[in-house]
Amino acid sequence: MKEIKVASILEVYDTVHELPEDVNKLMQMAHEARKRAYAPYSSFFVGAALLLENKEIITGSNQENASYPSGLCAERTAIYYAGAKFPKTRILKMAISAGSKNKVSQKPIPPCGACRQAIAEYEIKQKFPIEIYFMGETGKVAKSASLENLLPFLFDNSVL
Ligand code: THU
Repeated sequence: MKEIKVASILEVYDTVHELPEDVNKLMQMAHEARKRAYAPYSSFFVGAALLLENKEIITGSNQENASYPSGLCAERTAIYYAGAKFPKTRILKMAISAGSKNKVSQKPIPPCGACRQAIAEYEIKQKFPIEIYFMGETGKVAKSASLENLLPFLFDNSVL
């Protein structure tokens, strides 16, 4: 028997003002996208913004449904749109902003497991890391240098 240790490394910025300018702009677009979320059931609002290699910025927000599982998270709304509209263009960075109507979210809120799996598909496909930045409505911003760093031992198509 041997033990395998898996570690994730995050960089944490105290505020958005510490971010590189392009990432700060991307995060502002994620904040704006959050305002367009349709979340009447959870009252939890999420916005995502993607920077593509061709300089396009794609945004998405969570879209809920009376049939709860039919809704979709912000991150997948954005990344599926990027994949549909620019299938050959690499995705470089993703910014995520999340917050509840019921309380102020001041700490970084990471993407859910299903979204990590979806983002992984694109990172593997493009053979290039996607930087992920996430935060609440205000406060610290966490950065993961790649999706794989957020989802160690991920399931991928090499086993199919
Ligand atoms: N949500 C996202 O948009 N992204 C995540 O990573 C986690 C959760 C949405 C789904 C649902 O509309 C609401 O937040 C509450 O789970």
